[in-house]
Amino acid sequence: MEKYYISTAIAYTSGKPHIGNTYEIVLADALARFKRAKGYDVYFQTGTDEHGEKIQLKAEAAGVKPQEFVDQVASQIQTIWDTMNTSYDRFVRTTNEQHKQIVQKIFQKMYDKGDIYLGKYEGLYCTPCESFFTESQLVDGKCPDCGREVQAKCEEAYFFRLSKYQDRIIQYLEEHPDFIQPTARKNEMLNNFLKPGLQDLCVSRTSFEWGIPVPFDSKHVIYVWLDALTNYITNIGYDPDGSSEEFQKYWPADLHLVGKDIVRFHTIYWPAFLMSLDLPLPKKVFGHPWLLMNNDKMSKSKGNVIYADDLVSFFGVDAVRYYVLHEIPFQNDGNLTYELLIERINSDLANVLGNLVNRTISMVQKYFDGVLKDTAVIEEMDEELLSMVSSLDGNVTKKMDDLQVGEAIDAIFDVLRRSNKYIDETMPWSLAKEEDKKDRLATVLYHLLESIRVCGTLLSPFMPDTSVQILKQLNQEDLTPTFVRGKTYHVSSPSPLFARIDKEKKLAEIEDHFKNSL
Ligand code: MSP
Repeated sequence: MEKYYISTAIAYTSGKPHIGNTYEIVLADALARFKRAKGYDVYFQTGTDEHGEKIQLKAEAAGVKPQEFVDQVASQIQTIWDTMNTSYDRFVRTTNEQHKQIVQKIFQKMYDKGDIYLGKYEGLYCTPCESFFTESQLVDGKCPDCGREVQAKCEEAYFFRLSKYQDRIIQYLEEHPDFIQPTARKNEMLNNFLKPGLQDLCVSRTSFEWGIPVPFDSKHVIYVWLDALTNYITNIGYDPDGSSEEFQKYWPADLHLVGKDIVRFHTIYWPAFLMSLDLPLPKKVFGHPWLLMNNDKMSKSKGNVIYADDLVSFFGVDAVRYYVLHEIPFQNDGNLTYELLIERINSDLANVLGNLVNRTISMVQKYFDGVLKDTAVIEEMDEELLSMVSSLDGNVTKKMDDLQVGEAIDAIFDVLRRSNKYIDETMPWSLAKEEDKKDRLATVLYHLLESIRVCGTLLSPFMPDTSVQILKQLNQEDLTPTFVRGKTYHVSSPSPLFARIDKEKKLAEIEDHFKNSL
């Protein structure tokens, strides 16, 4: 069985993750479920990034010890991942003992090899980003990443010889054009960072304690990104003294899924660290776009932050999964508003999907008492639908392999829409009036049931519960994602999948909810 190792970024335990952070785990989940359905031996890893000054300060502000603070937030994050029905295999934490020990061994190995050396850092430091900058890297005198004030700092520090790996990384990117997705981000890495030249990277800090100590110099803690990035190997049994079988099996990762803002860490620092450890590089890094709220970046100070658990309580898990997976394209940011979400639920989930399933099953009940045999009275007008159903699995697979998840969903909904049109064209209610059309009527309904079954099966990575509901109503265990002739269906009684939402009423309800929770 071919293996497939997929990971998400590990989320900071600085606070509750919003729907933007949650999008990433849902996206990874859809890809992981899809690969599993295709027979891959999938390993899906996610987790939390728990060290660093920012988290130490948050814990101090909350009046608790850092460990207590991260324990609480990590469990909150895991609860949200579970609420979203995500099927990760392992939830990893950087405060785990095993991880800490291996990170120390990695640091030691790099030091022994001469890739890490002791030096002095004089520079401008941004605390929230935990990064040093030179004067020329600042934007309007402020941090180029977050726009906040920076402070002058001088400290003794360990450095990683990033510059040594510059040419090898450039060569790797050029020889592996698919390594970074989308390609525009690869060009950004080459032109903005690699070609102008890499400076050695400061990989230790002395200004705070909440981190993994440098093994041979405990005044220093290891830079959070060196600690965090290695999560992808420490948790599957990498050990400089001899790695596990699991590591041999799953490394290199097939896909690191990360947000567009941290592509640089995953395609420059991470490859350099791996090269230093003489390990192969991950096969692909996908820097997905962001989810915006009302076309604006979500932030607590703007008061426009939306959380997944609230959305789920208003709309249900699968509607939220559907929305984020469908609305965030491959390359450009996606947008979320309550209005748009309600419109999508009504048009796609209630009208297109829900109605099709409900109308079809009701007709099978009404005209055939729920028992329908394929009579194969096929007419020319059936051809388009049949060929769309037959090619659907191939189309969806191609889109998923290209990480075009929204378009994979579109392909399924095109078939659902075509199926609704087929009902209008074939008019089963007219066929039902003529006794000698009974076999034709059975064929028409059989085509619809098969179309629903194939779409229902293929929807499973995106909307797992809905997929189960659909197949339950069809009373089918056949998960072949293609048209099958000659079966007999015994359908259950129809029950609505998605109710239409009254927009104004729902918006008022949401407003009330937030007013009351203030
Ligand atoms: N801890 C680092 C990642 C270390 S990986 C070795 C981090 N954490 S984070 O909590 O800030 O972000 C987690 C993920 O959520 C990142 O991939 C980030 O890009 C993503 N997103 C943050 N805001 C987002 C949106 N608004 N929309 C989509 N993804 C977003 O970065």
